[in-house]
Amino acid sequence: MGRLFREGGEIYFSLEYLPEKTPYREGHIKELYSYLTSEIETGGFRPPILVGPSGTGKTTVVNKTLQLIASKGRNVFTRNFNMMLVNSSYSAIRNICSFVTPTPERGLSLNEIIEKLYGTLEMENSIYIIGLDDIDELLRKERGRILEILTRINEDYGEYRVFPIIIVRSLKPIYVLPDHIKSKIGGLTLNFEPYNSQELIEIVKERIEKGLKENSISWKAIEAAALISEKIYGGNAREMINLIYKSALYCERKHLEFINVEVIRKVFFHEYYKHIKQEIRNRVKANILKAIVTSSEEDNYIIQANDVDKLVNEISTLYGYEKEEVVKHLEELVSRGYLLEKDGNILQLFFPKDLF
Ligand SMILES: Nc1ncnc2c1ncn2[C@@H]1O[C@H](COP(=O)(O)OP(=O)(O)O)[C@@H](O)[C@H]1O
Ligand SMILES: [Mg+2]
Repeated sequence: MGRLFREGGEIYFSLEYLPEKTPYREGHIKELYSYLTSEIETGGFRPPILVGPSGTGKTTVVNKTLQLIASKGRNVFTRNFNMMLVNSSYSAIRNICSFVTPTPERGLSLNEIIEKLYGTLEMENSIYIIGLDDIDELLRKERGRILEILTRINEDYGEYRVFPIIIVRSLKPIYVLPDHIKSKIGGLTLNFEPYNSQELIEIVKERIEKGLKENSISWKAIEAAALISEKIYGGNAREMINLIYKSALYCERKHLEFINVEVIRKVFFHEYYKHIKQEIRNRVKANILKAIVTSSEEDNYIIQANDVDKLVNEISTLYGYEKEEVVKHLEELVSRGYLLEKDGNILQLFFPKDLF
């Protein structure tokens, strides 16, 4: 057993783990749940659309909603299919069908597969709720053919048994669908906004509590990871969880007792930042950044406004630069995203000391 993870604690950081709590998404789950259950009851149905960038909780919301519906005990098949790498509607439908009844790899026509699917559902007097997760590419490629097929099943057979949920990163592939398909979908549209750093902290708490031993991570390190995930990773919760996870692995490897801000900076930089930012060519800027990074505290990322003033003085004395020049370059370092600024304080989140 490692020194940071609880026994088996790694699983709480994995993609498969479905969290107990879903802060800021309970409303989405409720809306999707009541939409689906009322549509199923009334027997008319336009597939709902869940839209938002990566890591905003779409898959989690669908999985939790499906779990909730399945737990109510009605005859229902529920399954969320990842469609990212599925390259034709035919193979998508084959996958969908084979979840409820054995389906041969080849030899069946699309119509035969659909008959088989609907036949099984009828026989078991069952319905089937189908998540079409990350289906952007397939919609684009085949102009929504899969939606046409799945909505037509119900109309052809006269009774609603198939209930698809559309999950996309962007609405663009929906906008360009032919009108006759567009008019059949979008009974409900749920928007997923990127998380801000406070929300990311709330979200990651469950994983930290369940996965890591007490005092394995400092509060400032959690804040730093959340700010990085908001600013650099676009509010993606998966990146936030990964950053904490990789930092814990790093500590175990290096026999460190706990995750502090410097560990977060190191792991982030070596995983990501060095591939993105170009070298700083300007000598003055490079010297300023070096002075700031090397004077950073191990477990802090905030340089208070008056310490910034002190640093400016030190740098200008050390290198013989004009103070105004230092201030100007410092502002440029902020505007180019090397450093962040908040209420006059400078945030040093991205660069580990061993860079210099
Ligand atoms: N509100 C939330 N509460 C708890 N965990 C969340 C929340 N939103 C996202 N996550 C977690 O973040 C990761 C990415 O979320 P996911 O649902 O896969 O996003 P998306 O499908 O939008 O890309 C998953 O591990 C998920 O459990
Ligand atoms: Mg997803």
